[in-house]
Amino acid sequence: MAVRRVLKMGDPDLLRVSEPVKVFDTPELKALIEDLWETMEAEGGVGIAAPQVGVAERVVVFGPEESERYPEAPAVPRTVLINPKIEPIGDETAEGWEGCLSVPGMRGVVPRYLRIRYSGYNENGEHIEREVEDFHARVVQHECDHLDGILYPMRIEDMRLFGFESELIIQSEGDEIRCEV
Ligand code: NI
Repeated sequence: MAVRRVLKMGDPDLLRVSEPVKVFDTPELKALIEDLWETMEAEGGVGIAAPQVGVAERVVVFGPEESERYPEAPAVPRTVLINPKIEPIGDETAEGWEGCLSVPGMRGVVPRYLRIRYSGYNENGEHIEREVEDFHARVVQHECDHLDGILYPMRIEDMRLFGFESELIIQSEGDEIRCEV
């Protein structure tokens, strides 16, 4: 197991469309997943996607046991999600602050579907399907965007609501800033 280097925005590898995993239960996949957990925890994130460590495969992990950095964040189950699919449930969207381990020190307000159904496979190839909302739905949408080469700043609609975390905290006036995915 190892903490891997997290690619930062500007690295063209973050813009690639990742490939589906075809073979489960390989030592390489298990090692990747262990390293993703270790890297996420070392960096204090709530999720991380394989492309962020330079691996162009459709694998994300999210849901820390607890987040010291975001103790107020609602619980999200610890999940490995491979070859994910997301369908919105309804058209309703919500705006919320996001951060990203690949965009360190910054935050922005991003619109996301409020409710989604997502499906995929865990590390053993077992099918997962869930209907979720709010923070859990936001985390999944953010992580899965990485698999298509999309970073959250590309989805910001009001660039006034994008900036350095150290400055935004002062200006946020009660908005929770809690998402480092
Ligand atoms: Ni991210």
